[in-house]
Amino acid sequence: MSMYPVGQFPSCRPRRLRQSPALRQLVRETQLHPAQLVLPLFARSGRKLRRPIAAMPGVFQLSPDELLREAARAHELGVPAVLLFGIPETKDARASGAYAANGIVQQAVRLLKRELPQLLVITDVCLCEYMAHGHCGIVQRDKTGARILNDPTLKLLARTAASHVEAGADMVAPSDMMDGRVRAIREHLDHLGFIDTPIMSYAAKFASAYYGPFREAAESAPQFGDRRSYQMDSANASEALREVALDIQEGADIVMVKPALAYLDILYRVKAEFGYPTAAYSVSAEYSMTKAAAANGWIDERAVTLESLLGMRRAGADILITYAAADVARWLAES
Ligand code: PBG
Ligand code: ZN
Repeated sequence: MSMYPVGQFPSCRPRRLRQSPALRQLVRETQLHPAQLVLPLFARSGRKLRRPIAAMPGVFQLSPDELLREAARAHELGVPAVLLFGIPETKDARASGAYAANGIVQQAVRLLKRELPQLLVITDVCLCEYMAHGHCGIVQRDKTGARILNDPTLKLLARTAASHVEAGADMVAPSDMMDGRVRAIREHLDHLGFIDTPIMSYAAKFASAYYGPFREAAESAPQFGDRRSYQMDSANASEALREVALDIQEGADIVMVKPALAYLDILYRVKAEFGYPTAAYSVSAEYSMTKAAAANGWIDERAVTLESLLGMRRAGADILITYAAADVARWLAES
């Protein structure tokens, strides 16, 4: 039976509510606002460095000084937060660059918090950018093959998160998908006295081909194998809900669904089931595909981007993580 049987609301004429922009705005169920946006940024050592990422026009690997400029520009447009990734100078098998006191992310955090104290600085916590093999955890290799060592990885993740917070990060966002990492990070942060630093967990992170351009940007492509042993199977929705439930139990303050557009059902269900602050990560290929089609004149970049983000909001996202955050903030201000 339909919820609104035809004929039951004879005076309901939506047409009447579409007669003017002001009226349409009054009855709009979902709003897009710059305050919902998070801009991901890639930090790399150097000065005055803006290294373009071929598959992501408008996105760059930035030296700290340039990263500060980029963050300041977005912040002036009303984007309240950035999400930092780092590309270290050297990689090894213990991801030592991830938790080095003077690592690239730690440097960038210190600079941002010194120059833009009002900007919310979130750090991505993962090891893949810092591991020579490009995996998100410690890898053991022998003649039978290679495996990820889940539990030993937790210590390194907790250490990485702590070093970000010590540098001044306002929130940490673990993206590795190891089991138990939210608890390990929470306990370590609490132990160090950072009881008020929240965790935004990549709770339902799918093994996705949509991360392709990011791996060029972060230079984090796995050197062998893939991430299917720790990231989720795209086919699994109930499992995504269980992953989110676990992360909440372990102490996550905000849960994330990633990617966004191909997983709006997951987003909807996560928000409906848990009612937690929920983030959608519109990932690299979502951005690249929009840019590529727009560059060909096949779509209207601004209209398509705003429509996609509105879809994520409708599905239940409170927070929108997008490489287009600065453009979006500008478009919203113009309209
Ligand atoms: C690292 C990480 C990835 C993304 C965010 N953090 C890539 C991956 O898991 O391979 C993807 C972001 C994007 O595609 O925009 N764990
Ligand atoms: Zn990773």
